[in-house]
Amino acid sequence: MNNHLLALKDFSRQQLQSLIVRAIRLKNEAADNVRHQQLAGRTACLLFEKPSTRTRVSFESAMYGMGGQVIFMSAKESQLGRGEPLKDTARVLSRYVDCIVVRTFGQEVVNELARYATIPVINALTDLYHPCQILSDLMTVIEKKGAPENLKIVWLGDGNNMANSWIELASIFGFPLTLACPEGYDPDAAVLEESCRRSKHPITVLRDPVEAVRDADVINVDVWASMGQESEQQERTGIFRPFQLNAKLLARAKDDAVVLHCLPAHREEEITEEILESPRCVAFDQAENKMHIHKAILETFINGMYEG
Ligand code: CP
Ligand code: NVA
Repeated sequence: MNNHLLALKDFSRQQLQSLIVRAIRLKNEAADNVRHQQLAGRTACLLFEKPSTRTRVSFESAMYGMGGQVIFMSAKESQLGRGEPLKDTARVLSRYVDCIVVRTFGQEVVNELARYATIPVINALTDLYHPCQILSDLMTVIEKKGAPENLKIVWLGDGNNMANSWIELASIFGFPLTLACPEGYDPDAAVLEESCRRSKHPITVLRDPVEAVRDADVINVDVWASMGQESEQQERTGIFRPFQLNAKLLARAKDDAVVLHCLPAHREEEITEEILESPRCVAFDQAENKMHIHKAILETFINGMYEG
C-alpha cells in the first residue's frame, strides 16, 4: 500500500478504479440521506500555499461529511512562511492530525512532506500535477460517457499540471489520449516519456486544435495561465487564441461530445460563455464530484483501506 497520494503514477489501475467506485457509492448513499461516520474522531490539516475555492471547500465538506474535522492553514500565515523547514512541519503536524492535504508550487514540496510525515500526505495541486482533480474528472467521464477505453478524450491548451495528470491516468487506465498544445507549451517531458513507455495506447501531442478535436467524445480545457504564471497572461493569451473552445471548434467533435473544465474558467479565453453555459459542459458536475472523490480518498488513506 502506498501511504501518500502524490502522483497518479504511483498507483495501479485497480487501486484508482476502487477510489472511483467508492466515490460513486458514497455519492449514491449521500443522495439517499445515509449519514457517513467513517472518519469520526479523525482530523485533516489543509496546508495551502495557493488560492482555492473548490478543492478547499470540497475537501473540508468531505471530511465533515464523513464525521471528521478539518484545520485549514494558509502556508504563508504559518511558520513555513517564515522559513521553518518542511521536514519539521511534517513531523509536527503528524503529532496533531491524521492527514495533510497540500496545495503548493513545487512537487518537491509534497514529496518532502511525505518523506517526513508519519501520516498520509495528499497532493491537492502542484505545478506538476492535480491528481485528485483528474480522478473526479474521470468519475464524471464514466458517469456521462462510460468506459474511457471506448472514447476519444482530448486535452486542449496548455500542457500544465492537469494535462500531466491526464497523461498519467491514460497510461495507467490504458486509454488513448490526444492533446493539442501550442509549441513551447507541451506537457512535462519526463511525465510524457514515462507515460508513453508505460502505455499500450497512443498518447499524442498535436499542434492543431481542429485535428485534435475531430470526432472527440470528451474535450478538456483549462486556463491558459495557471496559478503562479500570472505575469505571462498577456503573452499566453495571444499564443493560445486558436485553442479557444468555441462553437466552431466544438462542431468538429461528435454531436454528443461533453466538455470538461476543472474551473475556475476564464470566459472568452479558453472557453466561450456560450459553451461553458451550454448543456454540453459538465464543469459543475465535475466540481460536485470533487467532494465525492475526496471522501473516498480521505477514507481510504486515513483509514488505510487500500485495495489492490
Ligand atoms: N478545480 C480546482 O482545483 O479549483 P480550485 O482552484 O478552486 O480549488
Ligand atoms: N491549471 C490550473 C488549475 C486550477 C485548478 C492552475 O494550476 O492554476
